[in-house]
Amino acid sequence: MVDSTDWWRDAVVYQVYPRSFADADGDGVGDLAGIAERFGHVVGLGVDAVWLTPFQTSPQADHGYDVSDYVDVDPLFGTLGDVDRLLAVAHDHGLRMLVDLVPNHCSSEHPLFRAALAAGPGSPERERFHFRPGRGEDGGEPPNNWTSVFGGPAWTRVVGPDGMPGEWYLHMYAPEQPDWNWDHPATAELFDGVLRFWFDRGFDGVRIDVAHGLFKAADLPDLPDPSVQRPLLLRSNPLACDREEVHDVYRRWRRIADTYDPPRCLVGEINLPADRAARYVRPDELHLGFAFAFIHTPWDPAALRSTIDDLLAASTVNGGPVTWVTENHDVVRSATRYGGGSRGHARARAALLLMLALPGTVYLYQGQELGLPEVDVPPGARQDPAWFRSGRTRDGCRVPLPWTRDGASYGFSPAGATAAPWLPQPAGWGDTSVEAQDSDEASTLAFTRSALRLRRGLLASSVLGREVIEQNETIGWLDAPPGVLAFTRGGLVCVVNAGDSPVPLPDGEVLATSGALDTGGHLPRDTAAWVLPSTTNGSAGR
Ligand code: NOJ
Repeated sequence: MVDSTDWWRDAVVYQVYPRSFADADGDGVGDLAGIAERFGHVVGLGVDAVWLTPFQTSPQADHGYDVSDYVDVDPLFGTLGDVDRLLAVAHDHGLRMLVDLVPNHCSSEHPLFRAALAAGPGSPERERFHFRPGRGEDGGEPPNNWTSVFGGPAWTRVVGPDGMPGEWYLHMYAPEQPDWNWDHPATAELFDGVLRFWFDRGFDGVRIDVAHGLFKAADLPDLPDPSVQRPLLLRSNPLACDREEVHDVYRRWRRIADTYDPPRCLVGEINLPADRAARYVRPDELHLGFAFAFIHTPWDPAALRSTIDDLLAASTVNGGPVTWVTENHDVVRSATRYGGGSRGHARARAALLLMLALPGTVYLYQGQELGLPEVDVPPGARQDPAWFRSGRTRDGCRVPLPWTRDGASYGFSPAGATAAPWLPQPAGWGDTSVEAQDSDEASTLAFTRSALRLRRGLLASSVLGREVIEQNETIGWLDAPPGVLAFTRGGLVCVVNAGDSPVPLPDGEVLATSGALDTGGHLPRDTAAWVLPSTTNGSAGR
């Protein structure tokens, strides 16, 4: 049985990327006041919680994931007072709030890194990071053969006050993001304080950036085969992540989270295969970890089924629920990833209904409720640090939201704004806006709202009653035609047609569909449905 302190087990959480949500002060970059102004949209969706990506003080080299002060707000986004106001508004509406914490690295402008640079080789200040002499005759070669997730070497050489090149420091991401040395006891102490600061302020939980990172193999050895490293995939370097020591950090954080009433929730960004990721989600470690295996699965019925099985099986090992997710600010929008155009769009809606039927918690990324596609941001306008180092860009899923049909920024910035949106919005963006979809019953926005309302109702009823959401809740696969996924969860049947032709639905009441049924009442391809069956006969779509 769950109780209200276990709200995170079946919650729907909406991810807000503040830069691109709403801009209240007209500088072209979204801010906390903009989120507060548009919060009615989030409340109207019917989600349970909101995760805010970093708003802390940052030079913005990686759009907030380079933090120079973990316990203050970047003026670009507002003030601590704005955070307090947003927390109060969210809590008044019964929504929980998650803050983003970036423990693997900080900003090269962080005072402790500035102090390490100033203090020089061999100093205690440098021990807080990974400084090493270079290799080669004049130390001109990096200390090992690791590459940065954003491309290029994972090491940058510093220049001393005398203008002479000196030691190198490790950065698994951009050079502006030096990695903390987690073998130094002061690092854990620093982050204990950061956690408590945001929990004391009222945040209900924390999303942990690169949660499988933090520790590196002792002495930072060479990778035997450096060609295994892939851009934008930390896990391709096994010496730089998923080390056993990291689990002690999460045990320590869980103890802190559990001292609060209600206990605070820990959600890890653990981009590992399902079996390895599940090792972080335990009764004494993290509550949740994003199901990256699901994001990486293409629109293919066999692949979807086996990933769902893997994730559910892995979750039973330690009893943490699966955290279903198909979009975030780092991946190509699902409508585009699943094939683009009207088919990709239909599949993204079907995938949403699929996720909402599965046991566990669901994370949605802002704009997913509008069915936004990936935008092909012109190369000259791209901002992602990965673009400049590896030629890969995540800008296309970060384009500022369209709120209105018309206007210079489609309602993202106020009329008379002094600057254009930080990433250009494409022509026709207003057709996908909240305003354009708000009263259109066939829109993705209306579909998302009604699916969330229905799910909430089912969870409160005997169909998916909360009493069935116990640890290890699973699903029962039903026989189905080729290309079709059909399963029961509690008293609900979910059918997803990932094949090529329409299929009949099981007898019963059709509660929701991700697209219109065809004239014969059949489920078209690329469409999902929820059915309350009149009888349970162990098959679907015959
Ligand atoms: C994962 C974040 O989601 C991503 O946006 C960021 O670039 C990296 N971690 C580094 O912090």
